[in-house]
Amino acid sequence: MVDVILGLQWGDEGKGKIVDFFAPNYDVVARFQGGPNAGHTLYVNGTKVVLHQIPSGIFHQGAINIIGNGVVLDPITFKKECDIVTSMGIDVRKNLYISERTNLIVPTHRALDKASEQQKGDSKIGSTLKGIGPAYMDKTGRNALRVGDVMERNFTAQYIKLRLKHQKLLDNMHFIEDITAWEEEFFEALEFLRTFKIINVEYFINDQIAKGKRVLAEGAQGSMLDIDFGTFPFVTSSNTISAGVCTGLGISPKQINDVLGVSKAYCTRVGGGPFPSELDDSVGEEIRRIGSEFGATTGRPRRCGWIDLVALRFACMINGVTKIIMTKADVLDSFETLQVCKAYDINGTITEQVPYQMSRMNVQPVLQSFKGWHMDTTSLKNPAELPQDMTTYINFINQYVGADVKYVSNGPGRDQIITL
Ligand code: GDP
Ligand code: IMO
Ligand code: MG
Repeated sequence: MVDVILGLQWGDEGKGKIVDFFAPNYDVVARFQGGPNAGHTLYVNGTKVVLHQIPSGIFHQGAINIIGNGVVLDPITFKKECDIVTSMGIDVRKNLYISERTNLIVPTHRALDKASEQQKGDSKIGSTLKGIGPAYMDKTGRNALRVGDVMERNFTAQYIKLRLKHQKLLDNMHFIEDITAWEEEFFEALEFLRTFKIINVEYFINDQIAKGKRVLAEGAQGSMLDIDFGTFPFVTSSNTISAGVCTGLGISPKQINDVLGVSKAYCTRVGGGPFPSELDDSVGEEIRRIGSEFGATTGRPRRCGWIDLVALRFACMINGVTKIIMTKADVLDSFETLQVCKAYDINGTITEQVPYQMSRMNVQPVLQSFKGWHMDTTSLKNPAELPQDMTTYINFINQYVGADVKYVSNGPGRDQIITL
């Protein structure tokens, strides 16, 4: 049986904390898409850790952690991260397996990402510059190198062939930075990668399922950044939604049980692209300050706004969400009034549907106000203690999106979560 935890907004919903919280209930925790563009923050015995490539179940010795075929893996980031996790007393080689089919991010992918963004100028995506787009392009273009290839004797020859291809593209884009140092680091990191358990994940995971083991699939990014259903072209390059679990791990849709969707009590976005409920004012700044809304991967300030229920309902629909986990509710503790976006006004036409593209449209939010709960909720433990105004806010969301908030996260700590 497979449960899924994924983001319902534009990423950074708090997936890392939530996966870390649920991981003790599972035998396997697996990342199924994305790469080092992800930044998942956990607090382990009070120490902050940000994971980019390693699944967020790594601090629970009982679980096998898997990097699935749908992921793109940068060996350099991977090595750095393993060093951090090892220094915290975890034997990474014991509990971390990597799919042979996982695609590699090579240094020229990072260079291509940068060159592509430079060329786009004002219409740039605001990519994390980790090489995600170019790496997935080589996958669908059928040129990529995969983790299994690293074990083959002619790997270097394969690498040189790909590198030459990339060089022509970079020359075309007048990219002149020297990437020799990255390459040295890359080959060193490959040596490190070779010492891990590189396995056929699809057989392993299906065998685990057949034995009655519990698998948790960990999403990266968020549903509104999905390559098909997000705010294209301001999206990432993978399927971030629950369908991606099947292609990203090699499991059947019949095996998927709960889809736990994570949403903040408000909304953020980092990078470019449409964000109808964005607050470009002092209220937005206040949310950013209280919520420490700065990117875990790039440090960039996150754009902040009210919760967007049009997008949230859409995300619940395409993912088949069975339970919602509302995070960062405590960040709204001090606000007098809250608003929710319950429709879009597109040049006078009111709609409750997410249009196929929003970047060339003037989309204004239709807002409804709610009274703030105005109390410190960070130490609450059980649902009966929740302020009535928070319950009213949650009930409205449940009713609008057609799925229920079953957990409220009221702080970054492992123990700061209330089951409703
Ligand atoms: P992810 O990418 O979805 O894992 O989320 P990030 O780690 O990028 O960003 C979430 C941030 O919010 C991190 O700094 C978390 O420590 C923090 N966080 C998670 N849940 C809560 C919560 O309920 N309340 C508060 N105040 N912070 C939270
Ligand atoms: P986690 O897993 C928030 C955004 C980037 C950019 C767009 C494309 O921590 O939630 P990419 O590097 O993928 O080509 O960037 O997607 N983005 C994220 N935003 N959280 C993430 O991951 C993100 N991963 C990518 O800012 O707008
Ligand atoms: Mg993040």
